[in-house]
Amino acid sequence: MSQTVRGVISRKKGEPVEVVEVVIPDPGPGEVVVDVIACGVCHTDLTYRDGGINDEFPFLLGHEAAGTVESVGPGVTNVEPGDFVILNWRAVCGQCRACKRGRPWYCFDTFNASQPMTLTDGTELTPALGIGAFADKTLVHEGQCTKVDPAADPAVAGLLGCGVMAGLGAAVNTGAVSRDDTVAVIGCGGVGDAAIAGAALVGAKRIIAVDTDNKKLDWAREFGATHTVNARELDPVATICDLTDGWGADVVIDAVGRPETWKQAFYARDLAGTVVLVGVPTPDMRLEMPLIDFFSRGGSLKSSWYGDCLPERDFPTLIALYLQGRLPLEQFVTERIGIDGVEDAFHKMHAGEVLRSVVVL
Ligand SMILES: NC(=O)c1ccc[n+]([C@@H]2O[C@H](COP(=O)([O-])OP(=O)(O)OC[C@H]3O[C@@H](n4cnc5c(N)ncnc54)[C@H](O)[C@@H]3O)[C@@H](O)[C@H]2O)c1
Ligand SMILES: [Zn+2]
Ligand SMILES: [Zn+2]
Repeated sequence: MSQTVRGVISRKKGEPVEVVEVVIPDPGPGEVVVDVIACGVCHTDLTYRDGGINDEFPFLLGHEAAGTVESVGPGVTNVEPGDFVILNWRAVCGQCRACKRGRPWYCFDTFNASQPMTLTDGTELTPALGIGAFADKTLVHEGQCTKVDPAADPAVAGLLGCGVMAGLGAAVNTGAVSRDDTVAVIGCGGVGDAAIAGAALVGAKRIIAVDTDNKKLDWAREFGATHTVNARELDPVATICDLTDGWGADVVIDAVGRPETWKQAFYARDLAGTVVLVGVPTPDMRLEMPLIDFFSRGGSLKSSWYGDCLPERDFPTLIALYLQGRLPLEQFVTERIGIDGVEDAFHKMHAGEVLRSVVVL
């Protein structure tokens, strides 16, 4: 038994995505069918479409999702039908060397469903980040489902499943920003603004937002930036230093992911400060810098995948803070679109018109 639903696939590198019929198998052992309610459009979906992740076309896109558990396979104990869940791409295994060393946020063996979702002709689909949620329903592993308070707006909750968690965690988990810190965030898209919101949540005393687009800087203020810098008009390194009594910020987060922004992050830091790279560079990018600068400035140079999050720990907490009005997650939702709006949403993302477009199913 299986069911056929609508899904957004990328059939060929660089070509527009299509809405087609997708076959969802009944859940096997450890698997869960989720009735998707909302799924945000993330940069990584576009990177899949453009062949930047791998060549395993066709992809079933979408991975920032919330929904309701429809049915569960044998042995599933984590969730039951009717549960409201956020889907995650870090279903920690508990068995790999990272998990066994007590660092499950580096888990090397995250769980996914074992049966494939397919096209009606039997062609196997590769779900984006093991999720594939631009679809009425999707098949995932039970560990990919994190139960949260159903009072949360699904369009908002789903965003914690990727970009918002990545940015917020880059500040709070990886950068360990805390009360009294000065923080600068370079690049104020959804990820950078989430880093700003995270820094504000934990009490950073100054939060400097850097972008090349004034509209993005206005939005950054709404998430808690205390100062903004347009990198087209002012030198970001000198301005961040000026705004931190000449010292540089304790933590600088690069949410763009280019050699020039990373260098700015490096030099805009106080001595022994922290750089967190959360923007994703392309494989051809290179850095050339004096090694002596690394030596003399000390501190820590980190990168952050998925905000070093643990979904079971972080999602319910962040949803609770949002429901209490302490974390403005609803501001990330720029627009709600239908399942046929994904290609258009990619264009708006490219043009910098949105923080997140969210497909509502
Ligand atoms: N590490 C992770 O786990 C993870 C997860 C999700 C996304 N990401 C990555 O995070 C990055 C940001 O994602 P997003 O959704 O916020 O993208 P986005 O395109 O919405 O935001 C990027 C922002 O950077 C600004 N910008 C571009 N060049 C700049 C420059 N030279 N100086 C200052 N600002 C500049 C843009 O104006 C834009 O506001 C992407 O590289 C994405 O792939 C990483
Ligand atoms: Zn593991
Ligand atoms: Zn994503």
